[in-house]
Amino acid sequence: MPDTITIIDDRTGKKVTVPIEGGVFPASAVRELDPSLYIYDPAYMQTAACKSAITYLDGDAGILRYRGYPIEQLAEKSTYLEVAYLLLNGELPNKSQLEKWTHDVTHHTFIHENMRKRFVDGFHYDAHPMGMFVSSVAALGTFYDDAKDIQSKESRDKQILRLIAKSPTLAAMAYRFSVGLPFQYPDNNLSFPANFLNMMWKVGEYEIDPRLERAMDVLFILHADHEQNCGTTAMRVVGSSHADPYTSAAAAASALYGPLHGGANEAVVRMLEDIGSIDNVPAFIDDVKSGTGSRLMGFGHRVYKNYDPRATIIKKTAYDVFEVTGKNPLLDIALKLEETALNDSYFVDRKLYPNVDFYSGLIYQALGFPVAMFTVLFAIPRTVGWLAHWQELLNDKEQKISRPRQWYTGVDPRDYVPVTSR
Ligand code: ACO
Repeated sequence: MPDTITIIDDRTGKKVTVPIEGGVFPASAVRELDPSLYIYDPAYMQTAACKSAITYLDGDAGILRYRGYPIEQLAEKSTYLEVAYLLLNGELPNKSQLEKWTHDVTHHTFIHENMRKRFVDGFHYDAHPMGMFVSSVAALGTFYDDAKDIQSKESRDKQILRLIAKSPTLAAMAYRFSVGLPFQYPDNNLSFPANFLNMMWKVGEYEIDPRLERAMDVLFILHADHEQNCGTTAMRVVGSSHADPYTSAAAAASALYGPLHGGANEAVVRMLEDIGSIDNVPAFIDDVKSGTGSRLMGFGHRVYKNYDPRATIIKKTAYDVFEVTGKNPLLDIALKLEETALNDSYFVDRKLYPNVDFYSGLIYQALGFPVAMFTVLFAIPRTVGWLAHWQELLNDKEQKISRPRQWYTGVDPRDYVPVTSR
């Protein structure tokens, strides 16, 4: 069977044959047929907008790999900082590379005092932490003259380091401001996840349980990248105009802020609270199936038509966390929902399985995070994914400024009518 596709323009009889590689064929075939012919593809459902060597995802098989490494192995054996290095550089660091990388990230965690005093202090007292995070990421770029120097690898590397190191600081600062607590400075003696937990929770004496530190790190690993999702696409689109990485990352974070993207874990917790008891699960499932109720939040995925591999790991991590914090009372309802749905032909036939958000909210809640912080917790590790894609974009000679076309459906030409005659 030839690995080619032939497209025939029935209007002219002209045909173009192009290769299919990795399940993709170039849209240049359409241009060759007729330069004024476009493909209508809302939400880019069938469009590969870039070549990428960062993350591999097979939704039917439930496979997720970063730079070839299965997510299961990374979640079990690696750390977020090691994974961040891997995503950015393509290879796991050796011992000295890891030491230097860890040292560099650790020593860039502080932010300019004016970020807090002049910028963050200006927010309204009840500002949403994710809104504060989005704006702070953009504002951070204004503190660095070299932020716009995106053609220099040295400058790019410096901004990448700053963004990865400072995102937990900005996140914790947004939280502490929102609850009126004084800002807790980073502690360079702590690991990346422990430093974040310390900045969040330290009031007087605070000791971090290593099991919670590890759980935080695993959650960071699982959320580090997920190829061309809405936020990463925003990063690439804005980055393609050669905006600085802070502005581009703020755009990506804005996309993540939306409830259809980073906000589903919050919806899961609210749904479980509404269900209230395992006795109400069957009636809730019936409502979902009949269409009279809401969807089963945390189930289904645009790409995964199988168990989301991250959901399996998160479910296990949830038990590790509950060992320390005590069981989240919503867990029993979640387990019953999962069991009921996975044995129901409505969900089985539609290939609806738990996604990453089904259990993550329960862990966040058990760790003490308010629901408003859930998307911020997603944004901290996803910063590295955005930056890995930004870097890849800038090094890709085939990329240009993003500029899709439209299918004009408006009115035909007409003459202007003065207001007195309308
Ligand atoms: N509960 C009940 N039914 C569902 C669900 C669900 N969670 N998800 C999909 N379906 C049904 C749809 O009603 C539809 O049924 P039909 O064929 O009888 O009309 C069928 O399954 C296909 O659904 P689509 O909406 O076409 O699937 P799509 O790929 O567009 O949606 C999405 C994916 C948005 C994730 C969807 O499954 C959903 O709304 N899930 C709940 C929200 C959620 O958990 N989002 C987090 C996703 S993970 C992330 O973004 C990090």
